[in-house]
Amino acid sequence: MAKIEKLGAVKGMNDILPKDAPLWDYFEDTVRGLMRAYGYRQLRTPILEYTPLFKRGVGEHTDIVEKEMYSFTDALNGEALSMRPEGTASACRAAIEHNLTYDGGKRLWYTGPMFRHERPQRGRYRQFHQVGCEALGFAGPDVDAELIYMCARLWEELDIRDVQLQINSLGNAEERARHRADLIAHLEAHADVLDEDGKRRLHSNPLRVLDSKNPAMQDVANAAPKLIDYLGAESRAHFEQLKRLLKMRGIQYEVNPRLVRGLDYYNLTVFEWVTTRLGSQGTICGGGRYDGLFELLGGKPTPACGFAMGVERILELLREGDVDPKEGVDVYVVHAGEGALQLGMQVAELLRDQGIEVLVHAGEGGFKSQMKKADASGAAFAVILGEDEVSKNEVTLKHLRDETGDGAGSQERMPVSHLPLRLLEVFGFGNGGDED
Ligand code: HAM
Repeated sequence: MAKIEKLGAVKGMNDILPKDAPLWDYFEDTVRGLMRAYGYRQLRTPILEYTPLFKRGVGEHTDIVEKEMYSFTDALNGEALSMRPEGTASACRAAIEHNLTYDGGKRLWYTGPMFRHERPQRGRYRQFHQVGCEALGFAGPDVDAELIYMCARLWEELDIRDVQLQINSLGNAEERARHRADLIAHLEAHADVLDEDGKRRLHSNPLRVLDSKNPAMQDVANAAPKLIDYLGAESRAHFEQLKRLLKMRGIQYEVNPRLVRGLDYYNLTVFEWVTTRLGSQGTICGGGRYDGLFELLGGKPTPACGFAMGVERILELLREGDVDPKEGVDVYVVHAGEGALQLGMQVAELLRDQGIEVLVHAGEGGFKSQMKKADASGAAFAVILGEDEVSKNEVTLKHLRDETGDGAGSQERMPVSHLPLRLLEVFGFGNGGDED
């Protein structure tokens, strides 16, 4: 018989294996706490949207829309669909569709997979995950600052250091138009040093030419007219107030006049959090204000600001640090014989009633191999049930680690009915399994 070929995952799309689950859980739990602390409520939108949403929202001349979207025609009905490459356009589409801002501003957050057909490398995947916030209906700059405070608090809670905040202001449409004309003139005057991408974008998206990493173009980019010098009084006041609010909380920032971001919907505030610890994919979070997007998508004028962070990149930073999220259960139940299995399953339910996490040994295995599994499970305790225990309706509780101060290996015997209380006592009240 011909050998059956094994199939792998799609390039650039990763399985997240159980061994990584504790770190993802830890991150997601921390994020949920953060969102509650700032009063943001979760929005869940579909992974597929009509393609024009992103063309209009993100912009026809962005890398994302030009070459990175998973777009296709639904063979069943001919509709043009795209896997979402980001969450902001979807959030605004949903807010318009359900009239979410009818009674005032709304603070929303989301998390989930995004899809971009990029060249995969460390920190860059074709399916990746974002956590994003969108504050809809607020003109800022207080909300711009609030969003940056949220990021700063998250880094503090996750003990992520070495991230720098870069900020810039893109002004309003009229200011950008004046700058654009001068920028195009400058780039045209130096067209000979522009690379292919630079030439292609010269007229379609000249701001992005400034973003180029090509060393040969740095001098031209550095000498280009700076958008920040074209800002009028109102835009400047917005930016100054943002800076004051950041200073008030002790958040360090660098004004980077070349920070333009890769999506077209921004105006006024833009920002990125960058680390040098992840090689070339060092931006862990980016965002800004997009006051024109609602109208572009057919909604009422609605000022808005938001950010999204790359979860894989943040987890990579956490892996380098010394977070040690709890792995495994609190208790592993070891049993020998049919009666012991039944009692074990009952005891486990009693413990779970108290919020204690329990694994009951399943499948074959003598006492010794079960104890090995108990040890490997990460549980702090083994509950041991043999014939003798069953006949007396008792359990043996074995301490597998020294965390409780009772010494690993020590054991005690007690009636089944005493076990939940005894465990709560050693764990501290509630489920102490998460405590140090
Ligand atoms: P973005 O800068 O395109 O912004 O993406 C935000 C973050 O997602 C990036 O800083 C990065 O950490 C992560 N990311 C992007 N592409 C990849 C990839 N291929 N692999 C791994 N991580 C990636 C947005 O998406 C905007 N929607 C942010 C926003 C929200 N602006 C206003 N509201």
